[in-house]
Amino acid sequence: MSAVSLSGKQLAAAIRAEVAEAVAEPVKLAVVLASTDEASAWYVRTISTAAAKAGIDCELVDTKPDADEIAATLHRLSADPTVHGVILQSPLPPGLPPAQQLAGAIDPAKDVDGANPLSLGRLASGQPAFAPATAAAVLALLDHHQVELAGRHAVVVGRSTVVGKPVAHLLLDRNATVTVCHSRTKDLAAITSQADVLVVAAGRAGLITGRHVSPGTTVIDVGTNPTEDGRLTGDVDAASVVPAAAGLSPVPGGVGPVTTAVLLRHTLSAACASIGP
Ligand SMILES: NC(=O)c1ccc[n+]([C@@H]2O[C@H](COP(=O)([O-])OP(=O)(O)OC[C@H]3O[C@@H](n4cnc5c(N)ncnc54)[C@H](OP(=O)(O)O)[C@@H]3O)[C@@H](O)[C@H]2O)c1
Repeated sequence: MSAVSLSGKQLAAAIRAEVAEAVAEPVKLAVVLASTDEASAWYVRTISTAAAKAGIDCELVDTKPDADEIAATLHRLSADPTVHGVILQSPLPPGLPPAQQLAGAIDPAKDVDGANPLSLGRLASGQPAFAPATAAAVLALLDHHQVELAGRHAVVVGRSTVVGKPVAHLLLDRNATVTVCHSRTKDLAAITSQADVLVVAAGRAGLITGRHVSPGTTVIDVGTNPTEDGRLTGDVDAASVVPAAAGLSPVPGGVGPVTTAVLLRHTLSAACASIGP
């Protein structure tokens, strides 16, 4: 057997088109950038280009790498009625508090990347909240490829507040039976090989190989690891997993493009909620 490729490109294009079609009033997303690293700059350019194509104004707000200044900027943007979505780009430069702590300054109604701890708390307690865009993208990709979740065993590798934990909550909400693994998990392969659906977000290139999956497993690879020759590779060793699993999302071209599209969809939702029915 050979795993079906669970591409995100078609889904991302459909979401972007749906957002572009629905934008009627001015919609603005503000991206706060406190670091100068090239990967962040590249990601912010990607968001900005996708937003422009969908008719969403994307304002880049550079701040000094200073906790007070970042918090003040997030408060100011949260209070600005012309701004509908606010993102704090991470990783932050060394020496600053964790991004989740600073993101507490983002109004949850504008927290389109689900970074404020209140958003995760609401998500965990079943209240309306924006999930982190990557976590929502994982679910959107599974739905797009019609992967059944209710009653199935979903294993999540990674427990970050950005990906692993919110994905686990979203899968639970969809009635999957969820196991979360992390760096202290003993015998990872013994657990992942029991998965019907395996979501990998560890940031370790090639962590998951053929021996970690079973013939019926659908694998979503969230990992994005830079290679020495300037490409991106996932957490899954595709060469050994493709012959062993039922489906695998590629890197690049899987979760990544859907994440950007979901951010735009969240921004539109935030704008619609602020404008009212
Ligand atoms: N495609 C996208 O749109 C997108 C968006 C965000 C992130 N990402 C990528 O997703 C990956 C994860 O991101 P993140 O922010 O969640 O990373 P993170 O904060 O570093 O968390 C990584 C998680 O993986 C676990 N882990 C690390 N090594 C492991 C191992 N050998 N076995 C089992 N678990 C292990 C860690 O366990 P402990 O908790 O025990 O340390 C931790 O919970 C990265 O490659 C990142 O670039 C992609």
